[in-house]
Amino acid sequence: AQTVGRGEDGAVRVGGVDVKVLAEQFGTPAYVLDEADFRERARAWRGAFGQDADVFYAGKAFLSRAVVRWLYEEGLNLDVCSGGELTTALSGGMPAERIAFHGNNKSTEEITRAVESGVGRIVLDSFQEMVRVAHIASSLGKRQRVLIRVTVGVEAHTHEFIATAHEDQKFGIPLAGGQAAEAVRRALRLDGLELVGIHSHIGSQIFDMSGFEVAAHRVVGLLKDIRDEHSVELPEIDLGGGLGIAYTSDDDPREPHEIAKALTEIVGRECEAARLRTPRISVEPGRAIVGPTAFTLYEVGTVKPLDGLRTYVSVDGGMSDNIRTALYDADYSVALVSRASDAEPLLVRVVGKHCESGDIVVRDAFLPADLAPGDLLAVPATGAYCRSMASNYNHVPRPPVVAVNDGEARVIVRRETEEDLLRLDVG
Ligand code: LLP
Repeated sequence: AQTVGRGEDGAVRVGGVDVKVLAEQFGTPAYVLDEADFRERARAWRGAFGQDADVFYAGKAFLSRAVVRWLYEEGLNLDVCSGGELTTALSGGMPAERIAFHGNNKSTEEITRAVESGVGRIVLDSFQEMVRVAHIASSLGKRQRVLIRVTVGVEAHTHEFIATAHEDQKFGIPLAGGQAAEAVRRALRLDGLELVGIHSHIGSQIFDMSGFEVAAHRVVGLLKDIRDEHSVELPEIDLGGGLGIAYTSDDDPREPHEIAKALTEIVGRECEAARLRTPRISVEPGRAIVGPTAFTLYEVGTVKPLDGLRTYVSVDGGMSDNIRTALYDADYSVALVSRASDAEPLLVRVVGKHCESGDIVVRDAFLPADLAPGDLLAVPATGAYCRSMASNYNHVPRPPVVAVNDGEARVIVRRETEEDLLRLDVG
């Protein structure tokens, strides 16, 4: 859990640091990330899966060099999906063999760099890419370890999983119609490739394990077909990421050890039934590791009651630092953190400073009725897909990421400046 508490004056402290001090020192808005919490979650995932499995942190959720170092130290691997993420991973000191390279349209340049640097695995997403990777690896005199990403016919989001329309999306090679089997056939024939396994990723913010169950059943079915056809038992299976976190008190996430136990049991059972050696399992949690470890600290600029409608609370960030509310209708909570208040709770909408009405941070929230300009608000669980999807809309510089630990705070990603923005403007 985050190391959060309130000091004597009612101000919240995180990682031993007062939020008012953070606001003074680093400005607002700022993402405040609890390093101890991050490490604890990373360690919990690593520990839950043990030595017979690999945990690849999904860098798309949030990546910086400090994060790469923490992951390295805690024994995790790293999943990247662009040249930029690869550069950050390598520059943060992650050994290339612990990196997996994903994506449905990796460029020739990205693939070349990945193969040259010696990434542990490339996850192939199409027939054309397979040929491209094989060609690049061969021309570099290498044999690249690869997995084939298949679409198993399950798309899982949150509580329900839908078994229709799943194949109509851009990722992976469908199991249906024998396409995945054909991909395996071709991969086994290409000199530049060493096919080590099958990959499946069924969705995001999932709480229900049944989607993984169906996915594991179908992936193991493919492994069995491969064994029967080629007398080859592929040694690995990657079940992707997607495990949900609590954004609000309505969400009830599973613990890493429960997830590990469930996945290991499913794969073990399916392999036993198919008389296959149990492959090495890997998973790719992003949100479940970093999501809960950070909150966004905002300052209230205006409080605007609209008679008979609602009260709008404007903060100094918005959709440029958290697009998830506008994009996914995501739910967040919010709290007054710079002081304690006994005032009546008032139903408000927390909005940003951007020039559109969809710029909502928290759709409906209760905040004390005495809320005033200068108060500090925290929106929890913004560690995943907020900084990484941040934009410069309205030429707003992106906030810093401040890591707190043991009473100390340090910037791990600095705030953008208007000079940063102007530097790109060379017209
Ligand atoms: N592995 C693969 C192949 C993925 O595509 C993803 C996420 C993950 C792992 C990590 O999933 P996680 O454990 O973080 O759910 N921007 C969206 C989420 C998009 C996720 C895309 N792929 C959001 O803000 O919710």
